[in-house]
Amino acid sequence: MDAKRIVSIIGTGSYVPERVLTNRELEEIVETTDEWIYSRTGMRERHIAAADQAASDLGAEAAKRALADAGIAPEEIDLIIVATLSPDMFFPSTACFVQEKIGAKNAYCYDLGAACSGFLYAMDSARNQIASGAISTALVIGTEKMSTFLDWEDRGTCILFGDGAGAAVLRAGGEGRGVMKSAMGSDGSLAHLLWTPGGGSRNPMSHEMLDQKQQYLKMEGREVFKHAVVRMGDAVLQALEKNGLSIDDIKCFIPHQANIRIIDSISRRLGVADRMYTNVDKYANTSSAALAIALDEAVKDGTIRKGDLVVLTVFGGGFTWGANVLEWGK
Ligand code: ACO
Repeated sequence: MDAKRIVSIIGTGSYVPERVLTNRELEEIVETTDEWIYSRTGMRERHIAAADQAASDLGAEAAKRALADAGIAPEEIDLIIVATLSPDMFFPSTACFVQEKIGAKNAYCYDLGAACSGFLYAMDSARNQIASGAISTALVIGTEKMSTFLDWEDRGTCILFGDGAGAAVLRAGGEGRGVMKSAMGSDGSLAHLLWTPGGGSRNPMSHEMLDQKQQYLKMEGREVFKHAVVRMGDAVLQALEKNGLSIDDIKCFIPHQANIRIIDSISRRLGVADRMYTNVDKYANTSSAALAIALDEAVKDGTIRKGDLVVLTVFGGGFTWGANVLEWGK
C-alpha cells in the first residue's frame, strides 16, 4: 500500500424516480397520519420507482450524472461496486447490469451487501483498492428500489422508505487528503432486528413463505433506533481519531438518512446540530442510496466546498455501521 497515494472523489450524481408519494397519500394506504409520520421521522414524502424501473436503472442514471460531473468517459472506469439490498435479481450482479447500461466496458463489477451501510462500505473498499495501487478509477453506487420489498399493509415499515440512487467516482490523485481511513463495524448477532427473512436459501420461495409475507422487510423499530444512535456516534469519533482530527475540524456531517430523530440524537451527543446535513424530509430512507444522494446534494447546493473536511456515517441491517472522513478537493 502506498501510504502517500491520495484518493479523491472527482464526481457525484444522484437520481430519484419521478413519482412522489406524500404522507397524505399514505393515509389512504395504511392507518396513519401525516402528523404521526412527520413528528416521528421528519419525512414529508418519498419517491417511488415505476414498475419497469429496477435498481440498475436508477443506479445507471445516477452513475451517468456522476461521470458527467467528473468529466470522464465510462471506458476509464476500472471497477464498479453497487451497494444494494434490492438487486435486479439474485444473480448476476446489479453492477454488471449498470456496466452494460453505461458502457463501462473496461470495468470489473460486483455487488456489495451491507444493507443501509452499503455505500460507505463500497466507498471504503474502492478507496483501499485505489490506495493500494491495484486500480486507478472506481465508480461506487448505492441504489434501491425499496418499494418492491415493503409490506404495504405494515404501517410500521412502509412509511419509512423510498426509492433512489446516488453515485461517486473515486480516482487516484488530487489535492488535499482526499478520502481518508474509515472506522467500520458489524454485529451479526443482531441480524434478526432488521431483515428480509424470506426468498433466500434459508427460507426459499414457496406459497407458504409468500402467504407469511416473509419476502418483505421486517424491523424492530425501537431497537434499531437505539443501536443506530450509539453506533453512528461512536464510529464518527473513531474515524476522527484514526485520522488525527477533532469534531471542531469538520465543516459538515452527513449521516445515513433513516429518521430525523436518530440524526438529532447524534447531533446532540456530538454537539454538531449546526453542521448536520439532512434531506430525509424529501426522500425518506433510501437505504444504501441515502448517503450517496445526500453527499451529491450537499456538494451541488454549495454546503461542501473545496478544502472542507466532511464526515460520512452510516448504520444498517446486519447490523453494520461505519464512518469516514474526507477532504473535498474539487
Ligand atoms: N402511523 C401511526 N401509528 C403508528 C405507525 C404509523 N405509521 N407506525 C406505528 N404506529 C403506532 C404503533 O402501532 C404504536 O401503537 P401502540 O402504542 O398503540 O402499540 C405506536 O405508534 C408507537 O409505535 P412505536 O413503534 O413504538 O413508535 P416509535 O416511536 O418507536 O417510532 C419508528 C417508530 C418511527 C419506526 C422508530 O422506531 C424508528 O424510526 N426506528 C428506526 C427505524 C429505522 O430508521 N430503520 C432503518 C434504519 S437502518 C436502515 O436504514 C435499514
